Amino acid sequence: MTIYSQSRLTHLPIQDIDFPPLFAADFISEFMRICEFGKYGAKYYHSWKVCIISCMIGRKLGLDRSEMKELFFAALMHDIGGVTVDGHIIELLTQIPDVYGQKNNFPIFIHPFRSETILESFPTFRKIGEIAGAHHEFYDGTGFPKGLKGDKIPLFSRIIRIADAVDIALNLHGSETLDDFISLLGISSGEEFDPELYNIFVDLIKNDGLFDLIKTTEDVEKNMAELKKEMQDGYFFASSDTLNRFFKTVAAIVDNLTSPGHNHSLRVAEISVQIAYLMKLSESEILAVRWAAFMHDVGKLAGDRLVYRKKEKLTDEEWHTVRGHVQRSYDIINGIAGMDKIAYYILYHHENYDGSGYPEGLKGDKIPFASRILRVADAFDAITSNRPYHKKKQQEDAVSELRKNVGRQFDPAIVDIFSKYVIS
Ligand SMILES: [Fe+2]
Ligand SMILES: [Fe+2]
Ligand SMILES: [Fe+2]
Repeated sequence: MTIYSQSRLTHLPIQDIDFPPLFAADFISEFMRICEFGKYGAKYYHSWKVCIISCMIGRKLGLDRSEMKELFFAALMHDIGGVTVDGHIIELLTQIPDVYGQKNNFPIFIHPFRSETILESFPTFRKIGEIAGAHHEFYDGTGFPKGLKGDKIPLFSRIIRIADAVDIALNLHGSETLDDFISLLGISSGEEFDPELYNIFVDLIKNDGLFDLIKTTEDVEKNMAELKKEMQDGYFFASSDTLNRFFKTVAAIVDNLTSPGHNHSLRVAEISVQIAYLMKLSESEILAVRWAAFMHDVGKLAGDRLVYRKKEKLTDEEWHTVRGHVQRSYDIINGIAGMDKIAYYILYHHENYDGSGYPEGLKGDKIPFASRILRVADAFDAITSNRPYHKKKQQEDAVSELRKNVGRQFDPAIVDIFSKYVIS
């Protein structure tokens, strides 16, 4: 149905978008953090802790600036393929600490490979993908997925292996004394871990207070903020094309986990761009609408993801969770430098034209125009795709349903132009 070429958008010069150098580190760290919010409110900060430990080891090894950046981003995203429908791979790994058990557990076995597949689709992330793909390889060749051995395992994957194992062990044996903890992990030196890196790690614990950096959530947040400042980077998202593709990938991850098979966010983006074009918005504004659409439901990743797939009637508490996704999406996106306008559009994507929506009950023109576009696109996609609670309808029926709710849910001008376009 697209008459507007979305590819034109990706040729907008990046300067027009004005993302600060902190953007890549900010966006990726925030995204990984929310993927690790457990169903019952637990916040693991796994990727952040792995990142902090890995960077300490990298610094001791004397890595240069660009190598440090590579290690930083690889450590943050090592488990990007381990975000599952009902949780995070870290939960499974703590239940199955034994490597043979892990190899026999499909989600565990496959997650490094998934991380690699997701990351390698970006030219600038290819090496990072390779590192993530090997982060469960063991020094003695007994790891997975490939059973690589010794120096055949990329150095940064070996670093992440130690940091990863440390955080998993902390989840399991957090109360051990430092010495007990060191000897506990020491058993795996030469087997799971590169012995040289393991020695560096022990040195960091004993002489550089490594564990103090990740002791409490506040410590983790403070140290992550400092690391991020060093990792200012224009390289990874150097072109708007890469940035676009990264947002699209995030949208695909959200869709996959919350509305499998529907590509909801991707479709909402397509429809929203179409409407924005019909409403004669400027190209940079169309791009903002597109990114807002990609990210509009990102808050659904934080916490209970199963609730969005539920067929049965929702309880009050579940309904509360569902409505809360708007605020969560806003908080996540607004926390990223350069994304405030997009966050603002997202916050109001469930407001109704007559003021009966949420979160604030804004009315008519008080609702940002971009949010009113998202509202229509979101509804149109919901009506025209199969959902747990209803069967999909034809486009014509969807249009009459939109028209029926003009002035109540939807902006009449938007529905008017869009429905003429769909019907014609
Ligand atoms: Fe992992
Ligand atoms: Fe991990
Ligand atoms: Fe939504």
